[in-house]
Amino acid sequence: MNEFSENKNFDISNQKVTESCPSNIALIKYWGKYENQIPANPSISYTLNLCKTNTEMEFIADEEFSVQTFLAGKEELKFAEKIEKYFRNIEKYLPWILKGKYIIKTENTFPHSSGIASSASGFGAIAKCLMDLDRIFSGQIDADFSLKKASFLARLGSGSACRSLYDGMVVWGETKKVTGSSDLFAVRYPNEDVHNVFRNFNDWVLLIHEGEKSVSSTVGHGLMNTNPYAERRFQEAHENFALLKDILKNGDMTAFIRLVEHEALTLHAMMMMSEPAFILMKTGTLAVINKIWDFRKETNLPLFFTLDAGANVHLLFPSDKDESKIQEFIIKELVQHTQNNGIVKDVMRF
Ligand code: DP6
Repeated sequence: MNEFSENKNFDISNQKVTESCPSNIALIKYWGKYENQIPANPSISYTLNLCKTNTEMEFIADEEFSVQTFLAGKEELKFAEKIEKYFRNIEKYLPWILKGKYIIKTENTFPHSSGIASSASGFGAIAKCLMDLDRIFSGQIDADFSLKKASFLARLGSGSACRSLYDGMVVWGETKKVTGSSDLFAVRYPNEDVHNVFRNFNDWVLLIHEGEKSVSSTVGHGLMNTNPYAERRFQEAHENFALLKDILKNGDMTAFIRLVEHEALTLHAMMMMSEPAFILMKTGTLAVINKIWDFRKETNLPLFFTLDAGANVHLLFPSDKDESKIQEFIIKELVQHTQNNGIVKDVMRF
């Protein structure tokens, strides 16, 4: 039992709700978890502005529980199975959830195969729809609590999804460095503690490899259980939070770049040190990283990268007077390493 368990009265009826939720990109990474989706270390991300999932959820009351899902108009049986399991798992938090039939239609504003975390925006949007229904059925409206509970529920679908419920910079996982932070849901990192240089940023994603990853995030997290470097990594994430807090406050771009790239490389180093080992970076990923480093050495311009659990490279750079020089370089030198000239341009502005 916790504050999200429910025993209030509810009155179900046929409903259709729609919600939209963005994706996010972590700066300090979540990699490793315990039972019930408890993260092994705190993480912090930027919520994106343009890469989103739009979801329509139709609830037909008093029919036998079942879930039908459509992605961009196409029926997805595997996804429906996953959602069905997820709904059964969260019944104690939404006691009405198994008392009807669902038709869920979702679409992403970014290419499905892009490797941009569609599970984050996808589960974020589903959790928001569920909380819309909960408000309708229970008649209780507390917007702040609803958002917090949506983050809690999204986490149970996919860990990183809980950070997508808030704008700006978002923290998930308990850390002494962020007041109110929790392993159960995400919280906003206070805007006033983020220097202006970090509040108007680009994230251009180079689609180095489209299609299925060889190892899923869930399997990757699991392999941290036997990784001999795991404990050190979890501790380092805490140390990096302390460093990042100062960096965000004082606007130290050089230190920010160092920390963010180190986090990305550590994530992939952990994969290589897993048993069995796996590598999700591709030749193009390494070529792009080396070109970024050369470019920075030559120009001193703040172009840097982060990676999630895949081959694609997130190119990060501030939106300021130098951004056109960086953009030119990306188009001329980096896009050639993508599979199909694939690039998704997003921004963080808060
Ligand atoms: C590398 O949230 O996809 O993107 O909780 O098993 O669904 P599950 O994993 P997921 O893991 C994403 C990890 C990451 C880093 C991050 O987003 O913090």
